[in-house]
Amino acid sequence: MNLKQLDRRFLAREEAEDLEVVRSQGSFVFDARGKKYIDFLSGWCVGNFGWGNERARRVIARSKAPDYVYPYYLYRPWVELAQLLAEITPGKLRKCYRATGGSEAVDMALQLATIATGRKKFLAIEGSYHGNSIATIRVAQSSGRKVKPPLDESAAARVETILQKRDVAAFIMEPISCNLGVLIPEREFITRVSALCRRYGTLFIADEVACGFGRTGALFASEHFDLEPDILCMAKAITGGAAPMGATIVTPDVADAVDGEGGFYSTYGWHPLSVDVAIDNIRWIVKNQRRLLRGVSEMSDYIRDRLSEMKFKPPAKLRIKGMAIGVETGDEDYVDKITERCRKNGLLLTSSDNTLTMFPPLTLERETADDALDILERSLKSR
Ligand SMILES: Cc1ncc(COP(=O)(O)O)c(C=O)c1O
Repeated sequence: MNLKQLDRRFLAREEAEDLEVVRSQGSFVFDARGKKYIDFLSGWCVGNFGWGNERARRVIARSKAPDYVYPYYLYRPWVELAQLLAEITPGKLRKCYRATGGSEAVDMALQLATIATGRKKFLAIEGSYHGNSIATIRVAQSSGRKVKPPLDESAAARVETILQKRDVAAFIMEPISCNLGVLIPEREFITRVSALCRRYGTLFIADEVACGFGRTGALFASEHFDLEPDILCMAKAITGGAAPMGATIVTPDVADAVDGEGGFYSTYGWHPLSVDVAIDNIRWIVKNQRRLLRGVSEMSDYIRDRLSEMKFKPPAKLRIKGMAIGVETGDEDYVDKITERCRKNGLLLTSSDNTLTMFPPLTLERETADDALDILERSLKSR
């Protein structure tokens, strides 16, 4: 039996894509046949700083951390990491909850909001994705009250009619939605909705699991809108992929309102090795922030220019913020074909509905960008 057949037999999941990964380095992924791919997906916003991260490997190899620390004990690196996150996140966010990944971080945020407000309802963007637990699936995908894009002033007015009933615990969104083909809200939408949340006692949850850690050209996407959320969720690029981790950070007001209620016990939440990697990663980001974000901005402009010259049919709408790139074509089959051809030609990207989405590493080199964009351009026309 080949690997794909064995996978079908023993792993409970959708059919895997035809790519057996054996190695990844920098902006590249290598398959079992030795074929090299340019990675414009970064494991869906995980490998923001490139693969094969030597620093993370060194940290893990040299770590003196205990195998494990029981969540109720004191552990200094937990405080160090929480303090770092309080320093780098926007607004008044101050206190951290420890999670193993994004779904758990968002799940915690939802629980916190119900405890803090005494309400049970949530409001999310139509078609959004916030994780794979029952609560996060319900919030994002249940029928019922949802905000339909485009996210403009008239959408904000619709939000008001819902929030004014004063029964919504939290409004949740990705400030820039990587999961909705890089949906970029109008500034007025965010400003107005966050004011409405304050007026009607609803908490604003920013899900920065995918768009955090530099992806959109700011450390957190909330910063583009001067958004000061009550709760912010992180995961994915917090360790750059070298170890699993999630975090939920809240304002002192939310922490006070929750006042120790709710267990939030997570056996592997903030495992010592993950904490070592995250602390090192965040210190590196802070130290190199200017250079990193300047690079993102320049590369983003360059990619925008190249994409705007390409002949997509039907003509495409570009939605680009930093290294979060969406190309909406209005034709789902066409987009699937391009994605498939790109993979054959050595470029990994993804598509959702009628939009190509690309999340290259923030450290992408110009030469690799050119190679990738050449592959994309070729793939628009033929095999
Ligand atoms: C915006 C957003 N929130 C939450 C999640 C869930 O994160 P995880 O897969 O780490 O549970 C994801 C994962 O893709 C995501 O993109």
